[in-house]
Amino acid sequence: MKIAVYSTKPYDRDYLTRANKDQHELLFLEAPLKANTALLAQDCGAVCCFVNDQLNAEVLKLLADQGVRIIALRCTGFNQVDLATARELGITIARVPEYSPHAIAEHTLGLILMLNRHLHRAHYRIRENDYSLNGLLGFDLAGKTVAIVGTGKIGTVFARIMLGMGCRVIAYDPYPDEALAQQGVTYKALDDLWPEADIVSLHCPLTPDNYHMIDDAALERMKPGVMLINTGRGALINTKAVVGGLKSQKIGYLGLDVYEEEADLFFEDYSNQLLQDDVFARLLTFPNVVITGHQAFFTHEALTTIAKVTTDNISHFEKGNLAQVCLVE
Ligand code: NAI
Repeated sequence: MKIAVYSTKPYDRDYLTRANKDQHELLFLEAPLKANTALLAQDCGAVCCFVNDQLNAEVLKLLADQGVRIIALRCTGFNQVDLATARELGITIARVPEYSPHAIAEHTLGLILMLNRHLHRAHYRIRENDYSLNGLLGFDLAGKTVAIVGTGKIGTVFARIMLGMGCRVIAYDPYPDEALAQQGVTYKALDDLWPEADIVSLHCPLTPDNYHMIDDAALERMKPGVMLINTGRGALINTKAVVGGLKSQKIGYLGLDVYEEEADLFFEDYSNQLLQDDVFARLLTFPNVVITGHQAFFTHEALTTIAKVTTDNISHFEKGNLAQVCLVE
C-alpha cells in the first residue's frame, strides 16, 4: 500500500524504512497534516500521522475523498482525531497502544529530579565557574507523597518507580488497578488527591471531560509549593492558571513535556525567530520551570516499536486481518 507519512523527521524515516522491509511504498512528507496539505496524500490508501497532525472533520473528508482507508497514528494518544467523523467516513484509525511506557515514566522521573535538585541551574552554574550552592537546596523524594492521575501503562510504571524511591503513592483512575493497589498505591477520588500531594503527575489521556483539569480551583486545593508534572497532554493543564500559580508561589516547581499550544512550536527549530507565544514565553522566565518538547517518548526502544507496530497495523489492514490491527475504538 502507498502510505503518505506526514510530519516526517529524519529519525522517523530511518526507523520506518527499517521496519517496513519494502512491504509498502512510503511517501515521506515533512509537512504536517492539515487541510492545505491533505492533497499530498493523493493515490495513497493509507496515511501515517503523529501527535500534532490535524485529523478534524475537514481533513478527514479530504482524505476520504482521495481514497484513504486507514490512518495509522504513530503514537498512543488519539485526542487529535475526530473519531465520529472517521467512523462515518469508514476510515479505520489505528495506533500504537504501547511502545515503551518506561520511556515516558523514566523521563517523568528525570523532570522531577531535575527540578527537585535544580540540576538545570547547577549545570549552567558550573560552566560559569560558579561553584556556590545558594539557591540549589533540594528535598528528599523518600517519604514524599506523589499523586498520579491515570494508572494505565505509563502511570503504572511511574507508580512503581516512585514506590521504589520510597515515596507514598496515591492515585486516581476511573478503573483502579487492583495489582497496583496491592503493591502500595492508594486510590482516591480526584479532588482528594490535591491536598495531600507534594508532587502531582498527569498520565491520563486528554478527553473532553478532563480538558483543563488543572485549573484555578484544583490549584487552590493543592499544597503550597507543590511540584506539578505533565507528560500526558498539554490541555490537561490551563497554562494561564499555572502561570498565576507560579507567580503566587502556590506552584513550587513545574515540569512539562507537553503544552496546550505545542503544535505551533514543538518538533521544529525556531532558534532564528522571535517567540510569538506570550504565555509560553512567560513560562520560560521562571527558574523553577523545566520544559522538554514532547520528548518523553523519544528512545531507541520506543521508536523501534512505534515503527514496527505502525507498519504491521497497515499490513494487517491490507490483508483484511482487522483483528490484528491495533484499532482506536
Ligand atoms: P493507557 O490507556 O494505558 O492508560 C490511561 C489510563 O488513564 C487508563 O488507566 C484510564 O482508565 C485512565 N483515565 C482515563 N480517563 C481518565 C481521567 N479522566 N482521569 C484519570 N485517569 C483517566 O495510556 P498510557 O499508555 O498510559 O498513556 C497515557 C497518556 O500519556 C496517553 O493518552 C498520552 O496522552 C500520553 N503520552 C505522552 C507521551 C509523551 O511523549 N509525552 C507518549 C505517550 C503517551
